[in-house]
Amino acid sequence: MKKISIAIDGPASSGKSTVAKILAKKLNYIYCDTGAMYRALTYLAIQKNIDFEDEKALSDLCLDHTISFQQTEKDQLVFIDGLEVTEAIRQPDVTNSVSIVAKHGAVREKMVELQQMIGRTGGVVMDGRDIGTAVLPEAEVKIFLVASVVERAERRYKENQQKGITTDFETLKEEIEHRDYLDSTREVSPLKQAEDAVKIDTTGMSIEEVVNTIEKVISKKN
Ligand code: C5P
Repeated sequence: MKKISIAIDGPASSGKSTVAKILAKKLNYIYCDTGAMYRALTYLAIQKNIDFEDEKALSDLCLDHTISFQQTEKDQLVFIDGLEVTEAIRQPDVTNSVSIVAKHGAVREKMVELQQMIGRTGGVVMDGRDIGTAVLPEAEVKIFLVASVVERAERRYKENQQKGITTDFETLKEEIEHRDYLDSTREVSPLKQAEDAVKIDTTGMSIEEVVNTIEKVISKKN
């Protein structure tokens, strides 16, 4: 079967990375978590005390450092200059600042270039906010995943509980809503469904059901 590109976009905690990882494994494709790249840059900016509004300094950071992934049986590990930051980039300080860093055109230009290099050969499942609209506009399959904000907050709440992190549910919900607001109202490549994307509302669906639904979309394209 021909190797295609699969773009999965959607708001925060809509289950994109969970299903993207499963699909990539099943298809033996590369998985590219573009959110992790923006998170890694934000982590670096925090470490180096760079102002989140300093577009030039932030885009220079992309040139001075290397963000890379390593796929293991269980997970995808994220590295900055060879140092593992997989857990560090999921901490609240990064999560609550990443949308400010990601709004800058010069930052996005550099990130999109890297992401397009990763996706160049096809055989990739890439998830993010602008994959179907800006990074891989020619992707054969485009999915736009949505879910109610309450369900997304519940999923994140349970995930945190499993990791031993205690969070206030209402705060989580507000943070998700705020990040969606910033991501969908920014000037450059806002979170938006591509015209040719298939929208799937995953509220009340199991992970398996979502994967099956996407597999049906893929099989129609092959
Ligand atoms: O997917 P995740 O929630 O980890 O993404 C973190 C943040 O990175 C998003 O809230 C968004 O601000 C930014 N992002 C983006 N474009 C992408 C992927 C993520 O702007 N393609």
